[in-house]
Amino acid sequence: MLRVVVIPGDGIGPEVTDATLKVVEATGVNVQWDLYEAGADVLTKYGTPVPDEVLAAVASVGIALKGPITTPVGTGFASANVMLRKRLNLYANVRPIRSLPGVSTKFPNVDLVVVRENSEDLYSGLEHIVVPGVVESLKIITETACMRIGRYAFQYAQRNGRRKVTSVHKANIMKLADGLFLECLRRVARDFPDIEYNEMIVDNTCMQLVMRPEQFDVMVMENLYGDILSDLGAGLIGGLGLTASANIGEGGIAMFEAVHGSAPDIAGRNLANPIALILSAAMMLRHAGEIDAGKSIEDAVLSVLAEGSCMTRDLGGSASTTEMRDAVIAAMGRQPQGLGQASAS
Ligand code: NAI
Repeated sequence: MLRVVVIPGDGIGPEVTDATLKVVEATGVNVQWDLYEAGADVLTKYGTPVPDEVLAAVASVGIALKGPITTPVGTGFASANVMLRKRLNLYANVRPIRSLPGVSTKFPNVDLVVVRENSEDLYSGLEHIVVPGVVESLKIITETACMRIGRYAFQYAQRNGRRKVTSVHKANIMKLADGLFLECLRRVARDFPDIEYNEMIVDNTCMQLVMRPEQFDVMVMENLYGDILSDLGAGLIGGLGLTASANIGEGGIAMFEAVHGSAPDIAGRNLANPIALILSAAMMLRHAGEIDAGKSIEDAVLSVLAEGSCMTRDLGGSASTTEMRDAVIAAMGRQPQGLGQASAS
């Protein structure tokens, strides 16, 4: 039996999580969901948005499926999402971005994977007021984390039959921090002579992504660049309602979640597109060795999108979250072309 820690989150989280659990159950995989809460709702009770029991559960079960969790902007508690990734040492955030049938965009041939370093950079949370009106926010870059994410990106490319790894950086300005990142990536690249390696400055990368996204394959970068560029990538293929992700740690521990946030503007109205979390669950099933179940979900999603009669509002349609859920379940078992390399590990 597959055991999974489920953190539904808040905003649209509970809606897309409920849809996703039902889709996974429809694959026939024998799965046990262990439900836990995190975020603002548990803050008053536990004094933290991520109680220790949640961390302990994910650490012992090894697999988690997580809905989005709201983080207050500017003030309030630290991000529960960042806390989960850091405390569990989920150092690699893998975000496959691939054009989907039936979703019309400017670029039909996008097929790239953002590998985002998840544990350091400007997400260190180390900020202080130097003097009133002056704030220092620390960007921490370590050789250990750069080597680890570099190796992960190249190994991912190798395992998934991908041919190129691009390092995204700003080492022309942050000569020491991003310079260290590049130096590590170059060292790792030497151990993978079969995989092409190149480097691109992050601002140019943004332009290249919206002009010629087909040139990219695996892209590896520090935390902040990865956060921003993966949303940009989501925009290339039809929006945040479609992009899945995996957070991978050492020793096989992994947490799967959509790239999107809690979308307070549409929460509680049965409007959210559940596909991003459904595809994250497919990555989770592949990671857990349930390859056929993962593929059947991916095929069902492709089939629903290609067919086009059940589209949520973000995709130009009027279907609800639950209608999309039911359409994916109904399509399960049909066999169009597979999604290919949406694996997490
Ligand atoms: P967001 O991703 O929640 O929403 C951005 C836009 O995309 C909104 O217009 C929203 O309606 C739309 N959208 C997002 N997901 C959608 C879906 N599944 N179906 C249809 N439309 C969808 O980003 P925003 O507004 O910047 O953040 C809201 C909150 O979420 C913040 O508190 C932020 O910190 C948090 N957040 C949490 C994440 C996580 O839990 N991993 C990731 C990103 C943001």
